[in-house]
Amino acid sequence: MIYLKIEFLGHAAFKITSKKNVLIDPFLTGNPKASTKPEDVKDIDIVLVTHGHGDHLGDSISIAKANDAVFVAMFEIANYAKSQGVGKTEPMNIGGTVDVEGIKITMTNATHSSDFAGGSANPAGFVVDFGDHRVYHAGDTGVFYSMKLIGELYAPDVALLPIGSRYTMDIREAVKAVELIMPKFVIPMHYGTYPAIEQDPYEFKNAVGDLADVIVLMPGESITF
Ligand code: NI
Ligand code: MN
Repeated sequence: MIYLKIEFLGHAAFKITSKKNVLIDPFLTGNPKASTKPEDVKDIDIVLVTHGHGDHLGDSISIAKANDAVFVAMFEIANYAKSQGVGKTEPMNIGGTVDVEGIKITMTNATHSSDFAGGSANPAGFVVDFGDHRVYHAGDTGVFYSMKLIGELYAPDVALLPIGSRYTMDIREAVKAVELIMPKFVIPMHYGTYPAIEQDPYEFKNAVGDLADVIVLMPGESITF
């Protein structure tokens, strides 16, 4: 089995260390719960952005430039990054898979909104296939029944799911998402950053019960598979 380490950087930001190092939704500047600063995020090969909102696009462009990383996002967002000086971009869209340096990245649906400085672009999620492990980052989304398809087609063993409510799924919806996706492990995200999305991750863990192993990470904490 290949080594896979998932580090939670706060909010919806994760650094996944494996054959390649992948950074997802690095919202660090202005994030009161961020565990690191953008200039301290090093050795990143691939930057993924689920949608254009500031708490996801965040520091992705500056980090991609500083690390000479491949920037992967919805077509319009990737092209915007290119216009901002990012050297390597992989524009894609929902249902597509791109192979970036041996890592297979599939873009999935998300039910949300998304605009940004460069215009508008549909929101998305990602399944990242590292070989022995597949990680699903749902992005910002409500639950939708075709999450079951994501489980059937890509069989992610780890799901990163929002539970904060107001802008995304709440605990009740996220439990339903676990039922539909059936991952082995779930890491809750997108809660607790601000009072408006305060949630108790252990209430979520209790509600999921034996369906999956819910791993609660505080910003800066990580788990290795
Ligand atoms: Ni959003
Ligand atoms: Mn968000």
